[in-house]
Amino acid sequence: MSENTDTMGTILFTKEQIETRAAEIGAQISKDYEGEEVYLVGTLRGAVVWMGDIMKNITCDTEIDFIVASSYGSGTTSSGVVKIKKDLDGDIYGKNVIIIEDIVDTGTTLKYLKEHLADRNPKSIRICTLLDKPSRRIAEIDADYVGFSIENLFVIGYGLDYDQKYRNLPYISYLEG
Ligand code: IMP
Ligand code: MG
Repeated sequence: MSENTDTMGTILFTKEQIETRAAEIGAQISKDYEGEEVYLVGTLRGAVVWMGDIMKNITCDTEIDFIVASSYGSGTTSSGVVKIKKDLDGDIYGKNVIIIEDIVDTGTTLKYLKEHLADRNPKSIRICTLLDKPSRRIAEIDADYVGFSIENLFVIGYGLDYDQKYRNLPYISYLEG
């Protein structure tokens, strides 16, 4: 079997590159919130792998929680409609919330999510995303911590899916077309 037979798509970022970036961002978050607690909100399901990497690198007291919002149907086209399918389990009032997201594409999901959470009066809200596709942005929203900015490519792996598949790939790659 040749070396690349098992690779799905064209690799953009390896596991090592992503882990290195997570360590840098985790160190930055630890510095920015020194002496405070952070409340990490992972967006299921895409952000699970990135969330694991980030939380290991945060030295502040940390709580984690998860939320499920969806703006996508199946396939690669956005429906533009955001729904909260599973809300947080904990109370974020007075807390330093950091939303951990897999990718900011049009920004529709995050804008909705941020406003939805801001209504509960946390002390602060920031966004930490693995990937950013700025050229696709429709909603006015930016992440505070960005792993990597990418071109307009449909990417899979490291939590990201195509029709619920490929989330388990230990790298980020893109599919042609
Ligand atoms: P937005 O609301 O358009 O920003 O969409 C954000 C969500 O769409 C992300 O959290 C992903 O779940 C999904 N998404 C956007 N672009 C991609 C991609 O290139 N690959 C896989 N999922 C994507
Ligand atoms: Mg997502």
